[in-house]
Amino acid sequence: MDLGAYVWRNGKFVKSEDAHISLVNHALHYGSGVFEGVRSYQTVDGGSAIFRLKDHYERLFYSASILELEIPYTIEELMEVTMELLRKNNLSAGYIRPVAMFGENKMGLNPKGAVLEVFIAVWPWGKYLSDKPIRVGISPWIRIHPKSLQCDAKVTGHYVNSILSNLWAVRNNYKEALILDFEGNVAEGPGENLFIIKDGKLLTPKPGSILPGITRNSIMQIAKKELGIETIEKTITKEEVFAADEVFFTGTAAEVTIIESVDGKKIGDQKNEVSEKLKTIYDEVVRGGKDQYKDWLSYL
Ligand SMILES: Cc1ncc(COP(=O)(O)O)c(C=O)c1O
Repeated sequence: MDLGAYVWRNGKFVKSEDAHISLVNHALHYGSGVFEGVRSYQTVDGGSAIFRLKDHYERLFYSASILELEIPYTIEELMEVTMELLRKNNLSAGYIRPVAMFGENKMGLNPKGAVLEVFIAVWPWGKYLSDKPIRVGISPWIRIHPKSLQCDAKVTGHYVNSILSNLWAVRNNYKEALILDFEGNVAEGPGENLFIIKDGKLLTPKPGSILPGITRNSIMQIAKKELGIETIEKTITKEEVFAADEVFFTGTAAEVTIIESVDGKKIGDQKNEVSEKLKTIYDEVVRGGKDQYKDWLSYL
């Protein structure tokens, strides 16, 4: 990967090559960090903008509150330095990774007393999955039980479940995994939310065992405003996925990624008419091509 020349760390812009962490870092040992994944895009007017930056920082603060980690900056300060960091790295279209974690000076499970680390790294990142429909397999690993961890918080330690699922998928020649919840219903991908379309209805798993994504929310709003389709949040079985007309993933990294097959079973007639429309509109919205969504963009 091609990390930008500068990162922002604990209040300062520093050269990436000079930014190191201690071997006895609490988050490194126990997963006690929170993070975000944000994208910036080149806009249709030749500029650059970050998509839903404030919403991502709001979720970062929410995730931090679950770990009782107090971020010593405001959302506005972090938004400002994020934009400055992209400018410093000359990165108009890129991926932004803010992290807050319990750092050094404390071992043992209680993180209180560890030195806090807050940093932002950026790098160019093209397609995460694919522009074309992908093959997905149902992971043998179930999503973390909502009574084991708080699924709607983006905590670094939660991601081992996603890593295992993705490793399994790739080992089995799938592009990505689909993860079921503890009751055997569909939850989400390792880093993506799932939508299905059936008889013109748009459905997505209800919150509980998922990270309710910002892209998921964007797609729900776009589907309503642009196509007049309301999204139904409900329990979705894997049989409903197999029988769907169209299926797609959403996520900041994955954007809208259409699913061709699940466990080798082809989905619908493969035309993906509604999903393709949503994908096209989403790609326009993130690039400032639609005025009514300009509030979602922070222009550099
Ligand atoms: C587990 C999980 N689900 C869903 C998503 C999609 O969320 P968003 O659209 O906010 O990127 C992500 C990515 O952050 C994720 O890690």
